[in-house]
Amino acid sequence: MGLLERFEDGSAPLGVVGLGYVGLPLAVEMAKAGHHVIGFDISDEKVAHVNAGESYIPDVPAAELAALVKAGTIEATTDFQRAREVDGLVVCVPTPLNRMKEPDTSFMEAAAHSIAPYLHPDMLVTLESTTYPGTTEEIIQPILEAGGLKVGTDLFLAFSPERVDPGNPVYQTRNTPKVVGGVTPRCTQHAVAMYSGFIDHIVPVTSTRAAEMTKLLENIFRCVNIALMNELLQVSERMGINIWEVVDAAKTKPFGFMPFYPGPGLGGHCIPIDPFYLSWKAREYDFHTEFIELAGKVNENMPYYVVKRLMESLNTHHKSLAGSRVLLLGVAYKADIDDMRESPAIRIAELMLDRSAEVLYHDPWVPSFLVRGSEIPHVELTEEALAGVDAVVVVTDHSNVDYHAVVRAAPLILDTRNVLKGFDGSKVVRL
Ligand SMILES: NC(=O)c1ccc[n+]([C@@H]2O[C@H](COP(=O)([O-])OP(=O)(O)OC[C@H]3O[C@@H](n4cnc5c(N)ncnc54)[C@H](O)[C@@H]3O)[C@@H](O)[C@H]2O)c1
Repeated sequence: MGLLERFEDGSAPLGVVGLGYVGLPLAVEMAKAGHHVIGFDISDEKVAHVNAGESYIPDVPAAELAALVKAGTIEATTDFQRAREVDGLVVCVPTPLNRMKEPDTSFMEAAAHSIAPYLHPDMLVTLESTTYPGTTEEIIQPILEAGGLKVGTDLFLAFSPERVDPGNPVYQTRNTPKVVGGVTPRCTQHAVAMYSGFIDHIVPVTSTRAAEMTKLLENIFRCVNIALMNELLQVSERMGINIWEVVDAAKTKPFGFMPFYPGPGLGGHCIPIDPFYLSWKAREYDFHTEFIELAGKVNENMPYYVVKRLMESLNTHHKSLAGSRVLLLGVAYKADIDDMRESPAIRIAELMLDRSAEVLYHDPWVPSFLVRGSEIPHVELTEEALAGVDAVVVVTDHSNVDYHAVVRAAPLILDTRNVLKGFDGSKVVRL
């Protein structure tokens, strides 16, 4: 039976390299569709958790993973030789920026080198890590072909951006349409066949570069629009206009408008990082992506703006930030998830500590909050604790927090998310 048929009837064993927020949900979806799945990771800890049927990703229900592991459908390993056993291999390793805000492609390269010796003819490899246009063909393809297999004939290679939105109750791996672009039309055909087995809707494009650029477009679109709202927030504040009310009014327009919201700054592994992958690559083409730079500048300033607004609010209570006890309420980068990557709460806490504030936090999702290597004390939201601080800053609008109790007990609240809509008064300051 050929590779296409094995993908189509679900008999092809599949592998996922990188079992994180993207990889583990994907592995589970593949296994639920009947494939035998081997997960590869360099982390012994993650491999052990998967093999014990323990989920460390909130979007993956523990019982679901445990049942698949028990049935022998999913297993995990740090032994990349086992890549020999699979017909399709999906790479979803991190793509951060280095300290100079340049793409760090080392994880993708390391993953490609780890699997390359074990590739076999009639096999598909796809890359899902978010990256700049050209990565699949310029970086991954030469590493995979080094052993003699040729992409397009012996081996199929494609890029397919991951669009998972952690914590989204409606759109998850299976029902989020998947864009796929292969190095050759046969590569695309094979990638479409594999993903069709466990994703509802596949959107083929004509090249890996188009697929890579699609993901960047989506995230740059968000980054630029959020920056626009952050700028309009600041001018509205000066004009005495409530920007949140304005967005609510504007979004009643049934066409030509899509709401975006201001906030304390960007967070997560995607929106603050991905746009800079394009800016960096664009320079090779003598092009400066000014929207991205400008959006980065506005968004990176937001933690400073939050601290400025806090200082002004404390001032109206005849207090200075220096010496004040400030409770950060919610520190994950967005609501109802445990992910701290690039969270604006980190920068806000640093800026407050630099200004001699005493910083505490509460987050039902985040058990430990490290800032510059030191633990920020976690407090429970008791009436006593809330009454004992000088201010609360709502950084993340988790839904499982009793905001009525916060408003009742805390002396001052700066709300960066509009979660206290309707609670206006001298105590509540909205960003
Ligand atoms: N998290 C999201 O919401 C999201 C959404 C869309 C796209 N993405 C993109 O997907 C990619 C992965 O992101 P993530 O959030 O899953 O990251 P993650 O950090 O949660 O997971 C990455 C995993 O890869 C493993 N890993 C690192 N190097 C490896 C190697 N050489 N071989 C095997 N495993 C290795 C890590 O141990 C980790 O388990 C990134 O490019 C990211 O931009 C993430």
